[in-house]
Formats: sequence, structure tokens, C-alpha cells
Amino acid sequence: MSGMSWTPTPEDLPAPASRMKGRAILVTGAARGIGAAIARTFAAEGAQVALLDSDTEGIEALAREIGGFSIPCDLALSDGIDEAVNVAVARVGHLDGLVNAAGVYSKGAVTDIDPAEWRRVLQVNLTAPFLLCRAAIPHMRAAPGPSATILNISSGVGLSPYAERACYATSKGGLITLGKVLAMELAPKIRVNTICPGLIDTPMVAAMSQHNDLTPTLQKYALRRLGLPDEIAQAALFLCSATGSFVTGITMSVDGGRTYH
Ligand SMILES: NC(=O)c1ccc[n+]([C@@H]2O[C@H](COP(=O)([O-])OP(=O)(O)OC[C@H]3O[C@@H](n4cnc5c(N)ncnc54)[C@H](O)[C@@H]3O)[C@@H](O)[C@H]2O)c1
Repeated sequence: MSGMSWTPTPEDLPAPASRMKGRAILVTGAARGIGAAIARTFAAEGAQVALLDSDTEGIEALAREIGGFSIPCDLALSDGIDEAVNVAVARVGHLDGLVNAAGVYSKGAVTDIDPAEWRRVLQVNLTAPFLLCRAAIPHMRAAPGPSATILNISSGVGLSPYAERACYATSKGGLITLGKVLAMELAPKIRVNTICPGLIDTPMVAAMSQHNDLTPTLQKYALRRLGLPDEIAQAALFLCSATGSFVTGITMSVDGGRTYH
């Protein structure tokens, strides 16, 4: 079996139970990829899910599929974020959780980066999660249950960067730090954790692989394969449900073994 790589099928993953029953969660970046997988998994586990994305058609389709609510919002613009959170809370009734999964990728050496690109990436990947947390925290503090959760989707690149990724890596490193500060400020009612995915098979990576052969990168992964969005969703489920009730402030790598060595 040495050298062979095994990828789970949906049947290999745990069957849905009721681990998110009664919870109301806002998921950003929910139209596709990792955010959509988290939204599907949380809904299958009993959560009410508000789906926020700039891709209105994508979230409307997923809302129909899982019985959630679509909240169209462009996170490249700060105006409108408070209102989007308020609309989401009005739709789902209260707020037990926020998952910041929306993000944009960017490549380029520091000397080549247009300052407008720097501002765009930092806005979507870091400032928007800050504004979403800021707007969501009062609702989460008032949530009826004993605990609420924030989950930020950072990246392995935020922990262990590559050259020519200054915008992306800096935004994702900042998101890790924001999560640690929030975990201290919001305990004990609100737990705050961060997942750092490795390369995951989503439209973002499909776009990347059009310009780059990912094979040499995957050789650095102990498991030597792309991850699946559902594998991130299972880690998110652990952190955002009662199974992770004693876990806060952590940065969890779910990356097939890229960053541990
Ligand atoms: N796929 C990977 O290999 C990988 C690895 C590490 C981290 N991540 C992170 O995981 C998260 C999800 O990535 P993905 O691979 O699912 O990406 P994706 O591009 O497939 O999906 C991202 C989603 O975010 C939404 N989005 C982007 N800009 C937005 C904006 N301005 N306003 C509102 N919504 C916006 C998109 O419409 C899309 O639905 C991102 O934060 C990404 O940085 C992904």
C-alpha cells in the first residue's frame, strides 16, 4: 500500500446526527467550495443556516437545497456588512455561530503587487471577517444557549507562507491572530477557533491548477493528495458543536500533513 493515496467517499464520512440541532449559524462564502460544504453539513446536523455570499444565484440554489436563507452581500465593500448580519439574525431567529469562509486568492511578488489588489485581498480576507465578528458578537452574546462559536477559515499559507503570496499569506496570518485575540476577549460564552486548510478540491484550486501544476506542491503533503471540502466541514463540525466544547483559541491544520514538519 506504500505510496497509495486514499480519498474518502461520502459514505466513508460519519453519518449526520443532530450535533447542530437548534443552532442558528451564519456562513460566509457559502455559494460553493468549503463554505458550501460547511453549510450543507451543519444543515444536515440540524442547524438553521444563513448563507452569505456575493454570488446570489449560488446561495439561492443552496438555500433551496438545504432549507436555509440567502443573504446576498459583497464583502469587498464594508458598507452593508452590519445590515447583512442583522438580516441574517432576523431570518434565523438568533445567532449561535459565525463561520468566516469567504476568501479570495492572490499571487504576486511584493514589488509587483498593485496597492489596490493589496487592499482588495486584505478587505475580503481580513477586514470583512473583523466587521462580521464585530456585528455578530452582540447577537451571539444574547443567544439563548450556553455557548456560541466563531470559526475562521484561514490557510496553511497563513502559518507557513510561500514566496509571491504576500497579499494572501498576510491576510490569512492576520486572520489567525484575530481569532486568538477574540478567543481571549469572548470567553467563556463564545469559543473562537481557526482552521488552516491545505489544498482543497474547490473552484478556487481548480482556477489555480489551470496555471500551475500542483503535483510538486502535493509531494510536500504527507498524504500526497488534495483534500475534500467535506473533510474541512467535518473539522468545522467538531469545533462548532458540543463535541468541541473545551476547545477555544486553537489553529487547527487540516492539510494532509503539509505544515507539521
Ligand atoms: N481551496 C483551498 O485549497 C483553500 C486552502 C486554504 C484556505 N482556503 C480558504 O478557504 C476559504 C474557502 O475557499 P474555497 O476554496 O471554497 O474558495 P472558492 O473560491 O471556491 O469559494 C469562495 C467563496 O467566497 C465567495 N466570495 C469571494 N469573494 C467574496 C466577496 N467579496 N463577498 C462575498 N463572498 C465572496 C465566493 O463567491 C465563493 O462562493 C477561503 O477563505 C480560502 O482562502 C482554501
